[in-house]
Amino acid sequence: MGEIMVFVNREEEIKELEQVVSSRDNAFIISLRGYGKTALLKEFNRRMSQKRVKGVYINCLRIYSGSDLLELFGEGLKKLVELGFIKYEDLKDLELRKSSIETTKYALELLFEFGSEHLNFIILDEISTLLSRFGLKKPYRGLGGSKAVMEHIKGLLDTYDITLIASDTSLNSLFSLARDYSAPLFKEMRRVLFLSPLSMTHSIELIREELKVRGVSLSEDSIARIAELTYGVPQYIKMFLGLVRSGMTPEEVEEAFYQDMRSGSFNAYFKLLFEKFSSTEQEVLVFLSRKISRGSEIIRRIPGAYTILDILCRKGIVRKIVKSERESHYLITDKLLEAWLQLQDIGQFKKISERRVKLLSFGFESIVREALLGLNRSIELDDSLGRKIVIAPYRKVTRYESALGEIDALAYLSKNAVDVYEITIEKADTEKVKQLMSKIAIAESTGLSVERGILIAYQGFKKEALKFAESLVKAGSKIYLIEGSEVKKLVKESGMRMP
Ligand SMILES: Nc1ncnc2c1ncn2[C@@H]1O[C@H](COP(=O)(O)OP(=O)(O)OP(=O)(O)O)[C@@H](O)[C@H]1O
Ligand SMILES: [Mg+2]
Repeated sequence: MGEIMVFVNREEEIKELEQVVSSRDNAFIISLRGYGKTALLKEFNRRMSQKRVKGVYINCLRIYSGSDLLELFGEGLKKLVELGFIKYEDLKDLELRKSSIETTKYALELLFEFGSEHLNFIILDEISTLLSRFGLKKPYRGLGGSKAVMEHIKGLLDTYDITLIASDTSLNSLFSLARDYSAPLFKEMRRVLFLSPLSMTHSIELIREELKVRGVSLSEDSIARIAELTYGVPQYIKMFLGLVRSGMTPEEVEEAFYQDMRSGSFNAYFKLLFEKFSSTEQEVLVFLSRKISRGSEIIRRIPGAYTILDILCRKGIVRKIVKSERESHYLITDKLLEAWLQLQDIGQFKKISERRVKLLSFGFESIVREALLGLNRSIELDDSLGRKIVIAPYRKVTRYESALGEIDALAYLSKNAVDVYEITIEKADTEKVKQLMSKIAIAESTGLSVERGILIAYQGFKKEALKFAESLVKAGSKIYLIEGSEVKKLVKESGMRMP
């Protein structure tokens, strides 16, 4: 193992898993593809072995039969023998027991029986693959297929004292195998961890580490741009870093990104991903990508969309925001998928220009807009001039564009009263504060009553910007300055996980 393994964050998840093991509970880890389940599970296993807590990691994608399962289990156990955690004789004992008939059922029995004698936990990465493959084999095939495999595992968990940590891309894949959430295995897995994208800070950390390994050097600004474009998904970060060369400017980084979305590996990746959805699912996703987000409208325009929206939510592809009993909005959770869809001519929709993709649904600005929309109660934030500001809930949050100019976010407190937002990921200078003032003027000129102007700058404010804003406040302007740490609170409160 000569390769350098980079691993960032996931401290909370690791702590929680540790608790699961020490309380002899079981857990599911769920995330979309490439968000880092496998990396987390392997890292967890590694750290536990440092603490002499014994576990075996099994990648179910490599298992087609009972003997495959025992083979991989044996590989994991061998590592523990090398570490001196279990005795070589015990391994031999497993070999002996293995030599009898190796059906799927027997392999599972042996896994749990032997596991409970020698281990603290077993990890089954991509468990639904195992459930469906074993479900096609004897003796499960005749007994209800994958559901019978689930029931058997549940029984084994009842019998043997060992923690099972299982992962999958969505609860939906397990759900469709079990066909109902009351299936016994679901009840057994009381802890469900949803793995979110990495925060902006951790993305930047991962990018820095990976660049070091690759011997590529980039400016802070270019690194920040990559973090923004890849949206905290480790897999996207790693895919994209393959295209990055030393000294690229942020603009060149962005150009390379869109080039790849149009015709490179991102294009291939999302095309494949998209083709896996049913045609109605695809239709709904295309509508959502065009920012038609209101549930009632989608249901009116696409027959059958009601159940499909539900399924997409269960798959974790779509997020539902309930505004009131009658009004719900749906958003695509994976921003790169959304951006890719926007860049396509599909059905009735023409492709959207890169500039507009960026403004509409991509990057920091759109995260903030979504977070503002997602707030269902008010939240108090600290402004960078030392004041408190209470914002939200908002009825509606939009981006404004007209001949007069553009406003990053108009957040409606009532039909006619708005907060005006100017949003940037960079460190704001005096110019940004001036821009905020001019955006307020634009909003007022359209007849809206502007309650407050709020400048959000992820990397904070330059001294002169603070000074300038302070003088405006003294002169009576109702403006507020919000920086990264407060944005995180806002995003968290709205149930999102970025940045
Ligand atoms: N916390 C992390 N720190 C550093 N690298 C990470 C982290 N999480 C994931 N990665 C890297 O990102 C890539 C994708 O992660 P991983 O394979 O773990 O995702 P996954 O959720 O298991 O995806 P899949 O559903 O495709 O199996 C891998 O190259 C992995 O090493
Ligand atoms: Mg994986």
